[in-house]
Formats: sequence, C-alpha cells, structure tokens
Amino acid sequence: MNDHRIVLIPGDGIGPEVSGAVRRVFREVEAPVEWEEQQAGVAALSGSDDVLPESTLASIQDHRVALKGPCTTPVGSGFRSVNVRLRKALNLYVAVRPIRSLPGVETRYQDVDIVVLRENTEGLYSGIENEVAPGVVTSIKVATELASSRIARWAFHYAKERGRKKVTVMHKANIMKLADGMFVRCAKKAHEESGLSDVGYEEVIIDAGCMRIVQDPEQYDVLLLQNLYGDVISDLCAGLVGGLGVVPGANIGEDCAIFEAVHGSAPDIAGKGVANPLALLMSSVMMLNYLAETRADARCREAAERIKVAYNRALEDGQKTRDLGGELNTEQFVEALVARLG
Ligand SMILES: NC(=O)c1ccc[n+]([C@@H]2O[C@H](COP(=O)([O-])OP(=O)(O)OC[C@H]3O[C@@H](n4cnc5c(N)ncnc54)[C@H](O)[C@@H]3O)[C@@H](O)[C@H]2O)c1
Repeated sequence: MNDHRIVLIPGDGIGPEVSGAVRRVFREVEAPVEWEEQQAGVAALSGSDDVLPESTLASIQDHRVALKGPCTTPVGSGFRSVNVRLRKALNLYVAVRPIRSLPGVETRYQDVDIVVLRENTEGLYSGIENEVAPGVVTSIKVATELASSRIARWAFHYAKERGRKKVTVMHKANIMKLADGMFVRCAKKAHEESGLSDVGYEEVIIDAGCMRIVQDPEQYDVLLLQNLYGDVISDLCAGLVGGLGVVPGANIGEDCAIFEAVHGSAPDIAGKGVANPLALLMSSVMMLNYLAETRADARCREAAERIKVAYNRALEDGQKTRDLGGELNTEQFVEALVARLG
C-alpha cells in the first residue's frame, strides 16, 4: 500500500512551530504519510488575496484528509473565520474533541474522560449578522432538523463504536424553545431509533451543566452540543485536564476530515518556541487512527500507538512544557518524546 498523501496546513501563530513538531515525530516513526503543504489563514496572504485560497480547498477535497494548525481570526471586524468557512465548505458537520486526564499532568481531577461532539456547520456561527438600526444588531441562529438529526445519529453511532456509556445533550431549550427545542427533540429521537438501550441518554440545561462539569466532570461521558455551546464547553473542559495544550480535535464529514487542535494561534507565545505541541500531536494520532479505520492500513494504527505511548511516557517522566508546569520548550519536549519511542 502506498503512503497516504495528507494536506498539512501550518496556519498562523504557533501553528508552524507545532506542525513542525508533528513532521519531526512522523519522520521518526516512519508514519506512512506524505505531506502536501498548503496555506490558510494570515499565512496564506503572502501568496493569495484570500485567507482560504481555492488551491487549499481543492487540495483537501482531492486528498480528503488534512492536518491543520490554528488560523487567526480578527476580533470585531475583518475577514470571516477560515475555520468556520472550511467546516461549512467541506460539510465537516461534527467536531470531535476528546478531553482526557493525562499521566503526570496534575489537575484538580483524576479521571476525566469526556468527548465533546460539537455541531460544526450552523447555529450562531451561520455568520448572518445585521445592524438593523444604528446601535441595534441581530445575529441569526440557524438550526435545521437535518443537521441536528445528522449529528445526533453520528453521536449514538460513535458511542456504540467506542463503547461509551452515556450521551448528554446540553442545551438552552427553556429559552430558545424552537432552535434548541428541535436539537433536543432530534437527539432524543436518534437515541430511541438507535435502539442502544445500554447507552444512557440525558438532557441538561447548559448553565447548570457547566456548574456540574466543574464540580464533578467524571460523571460525564459524551457531550452533544450545538456549535457555539460546543466551542465554549471544549475550552472549559480543556481547563479540567491541563489546558489547551493537551486537547486534540477532528472535524469530520462524509467525504473529508480535518484534524486540528482545539487551541488557537496563541499570539502571546507565537515565535518563542515554547508552545506545547501535544494538542496537534494528539490530533495527528487521531488522524492516523482515522486512516487506519477508513483505509484499512495497520501501519497507521502502529505509528499512532507508538506516538501515544511515547508522549505518555514523557509526561509520566515529568517531561513537560511550561503550560503544564514544566520547563521544556517545544523542541526539548519533542526530543524527550522521540527518546521514548518504542
Ligand atoms: N481552530 C483554530 O484555528 C482556532 C481556534 C481557536 C482560536 N483561534 C484563533 O486564534 C487566535 C487566538 O485566540 P485566543 O487567544 O482566544 O486562544 P488561543 O487558544 O490561541 O490561546 C489561549 C491561551 O492558551 C494558550 N495556548 C494555546 N495553545 C497553546 C499551546 N499549544 N501551548 C501552550 N499554550 C497554549 C495561549 O498562549 C493563550 O494564553 C484568534 O485569532 C482566534 O480566532 C483559531
């Protein structure tokens, strides 16, 4: 079997630093991946007038799998988010964000193992905003039965495949009776139709849900949320296990998948060589497992396992970057990981 041609988008800020770390580790484990580098984000503007060049989009459509660094989005004005555009353009309707306690990373909690499933294509991220009169703005939340049912069915399928015990829908259907009400109804129906009596189902109003997550995260398993809620809850959950430096993600659709860390371009530390590369490395492990499953390639599973074992060993041995209370910079952490590759 040939190596897999995968699109690599370094992105902005710390993106080139953390994607460089992934390249290095993939070389060391001889992962069966051949990179095709493409640009997106502010980084793309040196060769294009668009932060999401047509050639980048076409390359992902062609190769179907990408690993992406973070892309900067200006606050309050300027261009629309590259991430939102990509997810919509490629119909990557579910964001999967596993949030797990890690060995050697001390936090207030011991056994967090939550998977956030975020609807990725609509909700308040529809980008429809109008100033209807001076000083009066409307932001439109788009919710469709199609997208709500699609992600709900995906969630129960995922729970079954991964042996997860419970899916919790977090919502605000007491206030947004139509949009959130429909999301909850679709989730309930998908659970009933799944016939999965051994996968629990619950509905929680999201404000109380936030409190419960912080008080006792170990009671949660799979969380199913609309777009904005999923975005916010992902970062909240990241805080339970050591921060944004250790939370990976995948954006998955029928035809393509883009793997990326939950964190952004971290302008406060960009260019300093201190970013934690783990979140993107873990995303790359998810990508290898996805390739192993969808393309029946055992070499990918083996490479994923070797990387995972090595970073867990490094953490257990106290080899950590500064965000986790350690002293290593990006390169030193990568060296520590490489030294522990089996
Ligand atoms: N998927 C994406 O491309 C994506 C996701 C989120 C934010 N963003 C963009 O990133 C930019 C910055 O956003 P922000 O500051 O709100 O969030 P951020 O995630 O970039 O940073 C938040 C904090 O976490 C720290 N942090 C993040 N990743 C880290 C890592 N790997 N190692 C160590 N510390 C890390 C940062 O230093 C910062 O203090 C914005 O333009 C935003 O739109 C992009």
